[in-house]
Amino acid sequence: MKITIADLLEPLARAGEVVVFTGAGLSADSGIPTFRDGSTGLWANIDPEEVASIEGFENNPDKVWAWHESMRSLFAEVQPNTGHEGIAALEALLPNARVTVITQNIDGLHQAAGSTRVLEIHGSVLRIRCHRHCGFVEHWLAGHAAPRRCPSCGAPARPDVVWFGEALDQDVFSLAAQATLDADVFFTVGTSAIVQPAASLAMAAKEYGALLIEVNPYETPFSVHADYAVRSGASEFFPALWKDLSKIVGEPGGQNASKRVD
Ligand code: APR
Repeated sequence: MKITIADLLEPLARAGEVVVFTGAGLSADSGIPTFRDGSTGLWANIDPEEVASIEGFENNPDKVWAWHESMRSLFAEVQPNTGHEGIAALEALLPNARVTVITQNIDGLHQAAGSTRVLEIHGSVLRIRCHRHCGFVEHWLAGHAAPRRCPSCGAPARPDVVWFGEALDQDVFSLAAQATLDADVFFTVGTSAIVQPAASLAMAAKEYGALLIEVNPYETPFSVHADYAVRSGASEFFPALWKDLSKIVGEPGGQNASKRVD
């Protein structure tokens, strides 16, 4: 359905739960390549099985570390874009709503933009952890060599990301599933919506009655299910939404900003 931002303002102003589900397309405008966009996609130039899977890590840990080190260095050079910032700004603008970001991205840009409730269902390359899940996890400072052995138990250490063939962190995913089922408005932003179980969240939101908005310059297998398909980049859409929304709910903390009543 063709959409104007005006169609979204009332449902958002009334919402108690807003979920923003994001993928690599959101970070594209920060200079991070997506995974599957044509010849620039990361997976067009390297086999994910070799650098982002358990088998790859067990066969050639140095190659897996090298790829993650290149991503870690890239992420240290980039900034959140106006899409990340517009999403973070929703928290202050919608005091009536709990805004949950469920991200597939491992770049930490939502937190850098100020989002305070971020569920990283594919982990983060800004952390390393024990491969045996003994409990060791620590921040990975850019430009610093990460230990190859867990300092607590001696098992291999690894980036704290979810690789192909691995289960998602159940605690994080159950929080994401609960937010999805409670959602009044569910945005799916910058994702090809093909990797499970993440991609199933948007369908679940729809089945549980959420207003479903896709923000993606291109069609995805999911577009047919969206109530509204916004054919634009996230870094254009969210600032425009923020501007129009702030007119009806008032500037954050403004006299006519609706207050959350707990
Ligand atoms: N704004 C919004 N969407 C965009 C933009 C933009 N500026 N630029 C590109 N896109 C869209 C593309 O049209 C595409 O649908 O972003 C999507 C990127 O898709 P993928 O590259 O498949 O990335 P993603 O959906 O995040 O991949 C999911 O797959 O490889 C695994 O773990 C990895 O988390 C990743 C998962």
